[in-house]
Amino acid sequence: MAIQRPKGTQDLLPGIIEQWQYLEETIRSVCREYGYEEIRTPMFEATELFQRGVGQTTDIVKKEMYTFQDKGDRSMTLRPELTASVCRAYVEDKLYGQPQPVKLYYIGPMFRYERPQSGRFRQFHQFGVEVLGADQPIVDAEVISLVWNLYKRLGLSGLEVHVNSVGCPVCRARHREQLQEFLISRKKDLCNDCQERFDRNPLRILDCKNPSCQEVTVGAPTTRDTLCEDCSTHFEKVLAILGRAGVVYRVNPRLVRGLDYYTKTAFEVMVEEIGAQSAICGGGRYDKLVEEIGGPATPGIGFAMGIERVLAALQVQNKLPEEKPKQFAMLIALGEKAQIEGFALVTALRSKGMPVGMDLLGRSLKNQLKSANRQGASLAFILGEEELDRNVLVIRDLTSGEQMEVPLNDAVEEIFMKYQRGV
Ligand code: HAM
Repeated sequence: MAIQRPKGTQDLLPGIIEQWQYLEETIRSVCREYGYEEIRTPMFEATELFQRGVGQTTDIVKKEMYTFQDKGDRSMTLRPELTASVCRAYVEDKLYGQPQPVKLYYIGPMFRYERPQSGRFRQFHQFGVEVLGADQPIVDAEVISLVWNLYKRLGLSGLEVHVNSVGCPVCRARHREQLQEFLISRKKDLCNDCQERFDRNPLRILDCKNPSCQEVTVGAPTTRDTLCEDCSTHFEKVLAILGRAGVVYRVNPRLVRGLDYYTKTAFEVMVEEIGAQSAICGGGRYDKLVEEIGGPATPGIGFAMGIERVLAALQVQNKLPEEKPKQFAMLIALGEKAQIEGFALVTALRSKGMPVGMDLLGRSLKNQLKSANRQGASLAFILGEEELDRNVLVIRDLTSGEQMEVPLNDAVEEIFMKYQRGV
C-alpha cells in the first residue's frame, strides 16, 4: 500500500499555494503598517511550557497535544499554539530589556490532535500577534482593529466580532463562586465533561455546545456581572476606543475562551458561512502568563487566526484574486544545438530577474507552443537549426500571432527591454 499523509493534514499544491501566498503577503503588509515585527520560534518546546502556559484543565493540554519523549528522555510537544512560546522567548531572549511594548507577529503551523472535520485539522496554520509590556485599553483596541482592517483589506464581509471581559483573578474567583452556586442544583443535568469542569474550571461550562448544558446555563451569571472596578473601567474604555475607530463589535457576555491564560478582554471573530467551525480568529489579554512561566510581571495581549478558515471564507465570498499567468515568456528550442544556445539565453534572462520558461522534455514545436499557451506565456522565443544558421531569434507574440526577428547577439537586451516595458 502506498504511504498516505497523516489524517488531518494537507498537501498544499501549486494552484492552491498562490492563495496562501496572497493571504500571507496581505497579512505581512498590514503588520508592517501597524508596526509589528515577525518572530519565529521552534516547532516543538518542552511539554511543561504548554502545561503551565495554556493550562492543565484545557482540552488542548488534556487531550490534544502531540507529546513525545526525545532520545534524551525529555518530554517535548509539537506547539499547539504560539502565545506560550512567544512569552517564553520574551523571557529567555530578554525582550523585556527592549523598548516596550514589544509587538510581534507570526505565521506558521500548529499541531493539535483533534477529530478532523471541515475547517478542523491536526496540522493547521495560524497568523497571530502578541503585544507584550503594555496594559492600556488602547492596546486591546489596536490588536482588534488590526484584525478588523485585515479583513476589510481582504474584502471579507458578514464578520461578527464578539468581545467580552473575563476579568482578573479577583473578579473571576467571585464569578466562579456565583456560577457554581447557580449551577449546583442542576449539576446532574450537565454533560459528563461539564460535571468534571464544575469544580476545576466552571467558566468553560458557559461555552459548552451540548444542548442540555446550554439550557442549564440560561440566566447564569456572566463574567461581566462580576467585574471589579478596574476590569470594568478597562473594558468600557476598550469599547469606546473601538467604537470611535469604526470597528463594529458585539459584546457577548457568554464568550469564554478555551485557554486558561486570559484576563480582562477576550474576543473572537466568526463567519457563519464557513460551517460549524466558524471561529476564524480568537484572542485576548493575558496579564499573568509571562509571570506564570517564570518571567517578570508583564501584561500581554494577542490573537491568532486560522489561515485555512480565512481562506475558506475568502473562497465562499469569492474574494480570492484571479490567478495570474505563471510565465511571461517561453523559449522554444528545436534540436540539441538550439537547446544549448537557448538554455544560455534563458539563464542570462533569468539572472536579470525575468521569469522565462523552457521545454525540458525535447518536445515538438507544436507541443512546445501548446505548453507555452497552457502556462499563460505572452511571448515565445523560437530557436531552431535554421535560426541558428542565420544567427537570429524569432519572437512571437502569442496573443496576436505577430512575429519579429532579432539578432541572436542582441536578443538578451531586446527581450529584457520588452519585459521592462511590459510588452
Ligand atoms: P485558539 O482559539 O485556540 O487560540 O485558536 C485561534 C484560531 O486558530 C481559531 O479561531 C481557529 O481559527 C484556528 N484553529 C484552532 N484550532 C484549529 C484546528 N484544529 N484547525 C484549524 N484551525 C484551527 C489560540 O491559539 C491562542 N494562542 C490565540 C491567542 C494569541 N490569544 C492571545 N494571543
